[in-house]
Amino acid sequence: MKPIVIAHRGASAYLPEHTLPCVTAAHTLGADYIEQDIVLSRDGVPMVLHDIYLDSTTDVAQQFPTRGRDDGRFYAIDFDLAELKLLSVHERVDPQAHAVFSDRFPVVDLELRIPTLREEIILIEGLNKSRGMSAGYYIEMKSPAFHTAAGLDIASATIEVLEGADLHHKKAPIFFQCFDPDTLRYLKHDLQSPLPLIQLMGDNSWEEPPGVDFDLMRTGHGLDDVATYADGIGPWVPQLFEADGLTPSQLVSAAHARGLLVHAYTLRADSLEGGFESFAALHEGVFLNAGIDGVFSDFPDITRGFIDSHFSTEGTNS
Ligand code: G3P
Ligand code: CA
Repeated sequence: MKPIVIAHRGASAYLPEHTLPCVTAAHTLGADYIEQDIVLSRDGVPMVLHDIYLDSTTDVAQQFPTRGRDDGRFYAIDFDLAELKLLSVHERVDPQAHAVFSDRFPVVDLELRIPTLREEIILIEGLNKSRGMSAGYYIEMKSPAFHTAAGLDIASATIEVLEGADLHHKKAPIFFQCFDPDTLRYLKHDLQSPLPLIQLMGDNSWEEPPGVDFDLMRTGHGLDDVATYADGIGPWVPQLFEADGLTPSQLVSAAHARGLLVHAYTLRADSLEGGFESFAALHEGVFLNAGIDGVFSDFPDITRGFIDSHFSTEGTNS
């Protein structure tokens, strides 16, 4: 199969992540799938937002200065939908309020809003119709245990939105992704979701989620287990390579041997992963050397161009 381009948080290299203009750009730049990271509002509405926090991408501290927790962070789950909709989304900043990516969109107030999942579906379905395209959805449930502790079921809330849009069925162009294996098992066995499930693989040092051993998960036995509940894996790009950051590891072939797809994250021209010296070399490394089936890219246009110039429609190298 021809590898797929997943626009990471939309075309996030060019516009503030996960905003509707950013999604529109991803669609027009040729993404096969557009990613939605999901967190819930206090009243249980699935919002398209990467962090469980609001302070790195919105003006929450200015608008609601007294609503932070003792750790100084502002949590989306402490705000109702109507309050979240008042916030203005800006380009991502670090704790010192400096842009994380200095050459990207400026940190300005354009009165961009946090979309709900439902709104994003309306936009993508609309663009699919008006542009005669079929971009799909690549939905990540963020920190499910954190939501459970607050009495909210992020998996069920997400499915409810998809059902409302008639998109929770086997033919819907959707992948579910999660770092938490328990959530993927819950989706498959308890909620009986017919959608393909991707087991994201982090680094153990991130402790996301705590207690999951991703080193073990990448072994043969670990992948055997993943194959019992998931349809693919989503490794971090460095996990595709040996310690030199250039030589492909066994991970892709071991996953493929078990029938698992491999969709890696994340390609960024302004923050190269692995040992690669250029964005083109990184593309060659992940697609031509490691042999992955798809990738999350902040630059979906560049990744689209690479795939179209190196793979035929059938997916063979050309
Ligand atoms: O979901 C794949 C990739 O996006 C995981 O990293 O932190 O950007 O959600 P993150
Ligand atoms: Ca994600």
